[in-house]
Amino acid sequence: MDLKAFAVLGCAIFIFITITSTAGNEPATPTDSAPKCGKPQTPPSKGFRIVGGGAAQNNSWPWVCALVQEIKKPDGMTYRQFCDCTLIDKEWVVTAAHCLEGLTPAQFNYYVKVYVGVEDLTKAMHNSAKKYNISQTIKHEGFVMKTKHNDIAVIKLHKAVEKFDNDTMPACLPTRYVGAGDYVQTSGPYNRKLCYVGGWGHTYEGESGKKGFVGSGSDKLKQTSAEIFAQVDCKRKLPVTESMFCAGYEQGGRDTCQGDSGGPLVCDDGNGTWVLHGIVSWGPGCARAGSPGVYTNVFHMKEWIKSKTGKDFDHVSGSSDTDAIAAVTETTPLYEGRFDGAEVPIV
Ligand SMILES: *[C@@H]1O[C@H](CO)[C@@H](O)[C@H](O)[C@H]1NC(C)=O
Ligand SMILES: *[C@@H]1O[C@H](CO)[C@@H](O)[C@H](O)[C@H]1NC(C)=O
Ligand SMILES: *[C@@H]1O[C@H](CO)[C@@H](O)[C@H](O)[C@H]1NC(C)=O
Ligand SMILES: *[C@@H]1O[C@H](CO)[C@@H](O)[C@H](O)[C@H]1NC(C)=O
Repeated sequence: MDLKAFAVLGCAIFIFITITSTAGNEPATPTDSAPKCGKPQTPPSKGFRIVGGGAAQNNSWPWVCALVQEIKKPDGMTYRQFCDCTLIDKEWVVTAAHCLEGLTPAQFNYYVKVYVGVEDLTKAMHNSAKKYNISQTIKHEGFVMKTKHNDIAVIKLHKAVEKFDNDTMPACLPTRYVGAGDYVQTSGPYNRKLCYVGGWGHTYEGESGKKGFVGSGSDKLKQTSAEIFAQVDCKRKLPVTESMFCAGYEQGGRDTCQGDSGGPLVCDDGNGTWVLHGIVSWGPGCARAGSPGVYTNVFHMKEWIKSKTGKDFDHVSGSSDTDAIAAVTETTPLYEGRFDGAEVPIV
């Protein structure tokens, strides 16, 4: 394709996106009176994999989304979920920056689809109403692959979600750091706040990708609980930066794993309002005793998210405290991202 043709095509795509996003900004309809974020029909629960978890109940994770690579091959289309994401607005999702590695932005936007409002990926792969093209990906400028510092990216859908319902609803963004101060809902001998993680990733450490499955570990959404570690406890175990926190169990057994990267850690911040506090980022193995999972601290990233999306996410109010954080030690070779990586297409 010569340059001019490319420019014309670029223009056409730009116009198309402008038209569709205008259509998404229509005047308020009755559905706009529905809760705007974080109010699932059924709250997330401990359930009964992720690792050590159980099947999610219907309509308890309306904000979780899947990044699925769809590639046409000689023997047909292949569908492969490699990371997760979270709906935070009608047209924006957040994920981990490391989920964007391996592909150029153009390849990523072309081959990756966002499955929104789904629990069963095998059903979703043939349901065009639940699949969104990507119009833009923005990776954090300060992201460091080796240490997973600033592991966050926002993705703009090619068109806005038409309405929020029991299947599809964004999570709220936090108004405070989840590890700070007192929380009402606490759990276990360490009196830690109990939160929940969901995704389609591996159900045990070292599991290989399943043939015939779309999900990297499971086609059905799985969930488990995780306790939030105080930053001081987290720092004692792992080289975390101020953009991260730890969650999991001292004894191991429940955790996120490969394929869960980019997905949500949510907490009930009061009155059944579910808030996105963490983004699945990395961890040494999965669900090992003494080794929690590491999550991107969404509260720490809130101003970045606002600046990149141009949206105001102050759905709920609260205090905004945080605590002091360690510097990264370069000696620990632990920073294993919780993803299998996108497949680089052979063109
Ligand atoms: C959504 O969930 C609420 C609460 O359970 C229920 O009252 C309502 O009928 C549901 N809406 C739909 C469209 O299923
Ligand atoms: C969840 O939804 C599926 C299909 O929508 C249905 O077959 C299943 O029975 C539901 N499960 C529960 C526990 O309601
Ligand atoms: C979505 O992307 C595919 C390429 O992956 C393209 O063929 C299709 O036309 C796009 N759909 C829309 C609505 O932009
Ligand atoms: C929960 O709702 C009650 C009553 O509306 C309100 O007073 C309280 O501040 C709310 N709590 C939070 C954490 O939003």
